[in-house]
Amino acid sequence: MDGDSGRHAPLAMDAATFRKLGHRLVDQLAGFLESLPFGPVTRDESPSVVREALDLTGPLPEMGTDPGPLLEETAQRLFAHSLFNGHPRFFGYITAPPAPIGILGDFLAAAVNPNVGAWTLSPAATEMESQTVRWIAELIGYPVNCGGLLVSGGNMANFVCFLAARTAKAGWDVRKYGVSEDSGRRLRVYCSGETHTWIQKATDLGGLGTASIRWIATDSKLRMDVSALRRQIEADTAAGDVPFLVVGTAGSVSTGAVDRLPEISALCKEYGLWFHVDGAYGGFAAAVPQAHDDLRGLPLADSVAVDPHKWLYAPLEAGCALVRDPEMLRAAFAYHPPYYHFEERVTNYVDYGPQNSRGFRALKVWLALKHVGAVGYRNMIAEDIRLSQAMAQAVSRHAELQLMTQELSITTFRYVPRNLREKLRESEVELHLDALNRELVDRLQRGGETFISNAVVGGHYVLRACIVNFHTTQTDVEAVPDIVARIGREVDAELRATNLQPR
Ligand SMILES: Cc1ncc(COP(=O)(O)O)c(C=O)c1O
Repeated sequence: MDGDSGRHAPLAMDAATFRKLGHRLVDQLAGFLESLPFGPVTRDESPSVVREALDLTGPLPEMGTDPGPLLEETAQRLFAHSLFNGHPRFFGYITAPPAPIGILGDFLAAAVNPNVGAWTLSPAATEMESQTVRWIAELIGYPVNCGGLLVSGGNMANFVCFLAARTAKAGWDVRKYGVSEDSGRRLRVYCSGETHTWIQKATDLGGLGTASIRWIATDSKLRMDVSALRRQIEADTAAGDVPFLVVGTAGSVSTGAVDRLPEISALCKEYGLWFHVDGAYGGFAAAVPQAHDDLRGLPLADSVAVDPHKWLYAPLEAGCALVRDPEMLRAAFAYHPPYYHFEERVTNYVDYGPQNSRGFRALKVWLALKHVGAVGYRNMIAEDIRLSQAMAQAVSRHAELQLMTQELSITTFRYVPRNLREKLRESEVELHLDALNRELVDRLQRGGETFISNAVVGGHYVLRACIVNFHTTQTDVEAVPDIVARIGREVDAELRATNLQPR
């Protein structure tokens, strides 16, 4: 690959060596993926153990290393000391296993290495990204002539939409003069208390400040109270503020709650506000007709954030921002400096988002959509939802577990020792259950049998299992209650021994 120029750059590699190392790595990866379900989800290792095991304490090497053993050993060490979100019993946060075709797609994308900031630099990749955006829109029922682009994840997808809304609705040239121009009049954002923390980062980075957020109360199903939303918008308008954006959530991070999107959309139309939907987690469930009635409102939004590295099972990173009117993205992001000479009649993604140089994220998503089609995705997402419901049933059958919520593919529950079952709501008992379940999550996360995260529901600290995992089976979900109860009993016994349990 070095050609015959006479130059022998240290990083260059001849084709035969590249082929040999690549084949060896792919063999290792195939073995790793095959054996993954039979090992632990993670190992309970401290940061110093990990640093030692991967030899990460030394100084920058002055001289290089033979790439064959380097790659082989690095792969082995990663296999031995990582947490595997591709494990069938990984139910933490909202992280999917990587689709194998996506793994290969990232490999291919890195080799071609197009800069998808400008069409000239990435003719094929830009067109493939445009098709990926259209296909994603089509999958969730959003208008296919929308604008959009691939970004690093849900946070970035929401930020992009947020900035498009800010530019479109501020009422002055907010890009030029910033948010303080219209002095005294505060831009206002509305969302429920269940909204993911991206909204704080967005208002902070967007110059509005977190105090611009109006946290609207939720109902018993943790959905935004639309009457309270209306009252707050009216009060703020009367006070001289500038309401500009309402954020609805299609699948909240804690419990999978879906806001009343059709009603919120109607309200936004009435008041002339931008309606954004954070569908980072649940947006793709709109592809499954029976998943949730309120997802019907998703196509009504001015913008939607979805996250292919969640329910499209793309390897990290891949988020996607969709904006109904493509011009709104250009209006929010385009500049035309003299040192860029890009053809205006083609898509230059540099004009549609905050990034300048951009990688070929779309390829892994495009390949996976081609590989299994819409039908394949509908089946996998529907099966994840069914398995979550099966987990909820298994939890509710268990005498030591209390089911809290089940929505989309998230189940929340907690461990309650038998002798405390009749004493729920006594404040001393609730405090004890919070401490018990907090410790239980910690042990589950370190134990390696399964990985579950936490949520706070109705003021209670609970366990939370989210299934966006096409490797998970009925056996895996049915194993969870017994694992949790066994470790719950151990924690309870220890707390009792230290006299921390209420009598
Ligand atoms: C509803 C929601 N929005 C946004 C995000 C942020 O997504 P990411 O972690 O890909 O930035 C998440 C992550 O779990 C989420 O659940």
